[in-house]
Amino acid sequence: MGPHSAPAKENPLQPGLLQTGAPRPGPLRIVVLVSGTGTNLQALLDACADSSYGVQVVAVGADRQGTRAIERAEAVGVPTFVVRVGDFDERPAWDAALAAAVVGYAPDLVVLAGFMKLVGPAFMAAFEGRVVNTHPALSPAFPGMHGPRDALAYGVKVSGCTLFVVDGGIDTGPIIAQAAVPVLDDDDENSLHERIKTVERQLLVDTIGTMARDGWTVTGRKVTIP
Ligand code: GRF
Repeated sequence: MGPHSAPAKENPLQPGLLQTGAPRPGPLRIVVLVSGTGTNLQALLDACADSSYGVQVVAVGADRQGTRAIERAEAVGVPTFVVRVGDFDERPAWDAALAAAVVGYAPDLVVLAGFMKLVGPAFMAAFEGRVVNTHPALSPAFPGMHGPRDALAYGVKVSGCTLFVVDGGIDTGPIIAQAAVPVLDDDDENSLHERIKTVERQLLVDTIGTMARDGWTVTGRKVTIP
């Protein structure tokens, strides 16, 4: 396993450089946030079983109880936590509690993998430039909760998935990687989403592993993995 590059804060000498790497030993520590089935999480957990992958899932967090994703983490002994919006009077308090829970695991990178909430200012302040999200559409098309449905409704012939650095907007951050799939004439939302998820899991595993082993740089909207 080679060294990976740990993310750094904004470099004042190079405005626009959000994040760059400095080699350090050991696996990249990631916290994965989930809301549902957790097949993307499972793909990461499976990859992490091989130490040469260069990544360690140090915790998995959810915004709701009883998700399959949390069960998947528990099955392999990864610590889990749940921080529910409904347990707080106001959304900012939830956001701060979520940030605090994640900070407790000292991740190098936070991976949103089917996490169906928008993280807020407190979370972004704690992890700016170190949060990535996977979205089931080819950004900048079809942001939001219903990427596959919106792509079908628009009639596109190609869709796919996008891994990006979270910037506080809705699926607007700098793009790390994308993969495309065809949209078939007889697709419904579910069949298209499942086809997307097949390539999405592979893209997530491949890209997070490469970032862990080789580092990455975000300059403005441009993400570079050496
Ligand atoms: C993924 O397609 C993700 O992009 C979207 O929800 C799906 C989550 O799938 N936001 P899973 O829970 O990883 O199976």
